[in-house]
Amino acid sequence: MKLLILNGPNLNLLGKREVNIYGNKSFEDYFNELKTIYNNIELSYFQSNIEGKLIDKIHEVGFSFDAIIFNAGAYTHTSIALADAISGITTPVIEVHISNVFKRESYRHHSYISPVCAGTIAGFGLDSYNLAIQSILNASEFKQD
Ligand code: DQA
Repeated sequence: MKLLILNGPNLNLLGKREVNIYGNKSFEDYFNELKTIYNNIELSYFQSNIEGKLIDKIHEVGFSFDAIIFNAGAYTHTSIALADAISGITTPVIEVHISNVFKRESYRHHSYISPVCAGTIAGFGLDSYNLAIQSILNASEFKQD
C-alpha cells in the first residue's frame, strides 16, 4: 500500500505557527511517529508552499498510489487548479484539516477540493492524518471481503 501525505502552504511551520490552533509538534516529528505505527505501509510525505509544485506532485503519484491524504492549507479555500488536478487523477484523495475549519472564519467554511475528494476529516489536530490513514485501511479491508 502506497500513501502520500501532501501538505500545502505554511504547514512547514507546524509546531511554531499559531500553536493555540495547530499545536506545538512539528510535522516531521509527527510523520516519524506515523512511520513507526504504520511500518507495513509505504508512507511518503511532501510539503510545498507553491501551488504548482503541489499540482506537479498530484500528477506524479496520482495514477499509481493507493491514496493521497491532502491538507491544502489556505489553498483549500481558493484553488480551482488544485480541484482540477484532483479531478484529473485516478488515486482517491482524502482532504484533511488540523483545525475544525467550520468553527473558524466564514472564508474557511468553503472548500474547492471537498467535492472532488473521497471524504474530509477536520478538527482532530494532527490525529486528523491518522484518522485518514485508518479510513483508507478500513476501506481496503472492506474491498477484500
Ligand atoms: C488548515 C485550515 C486552513 O483554513 C488554513 O489556511 C491552514 C490549515 C488546517 O489544517 O486546519 O493553513 O488546512
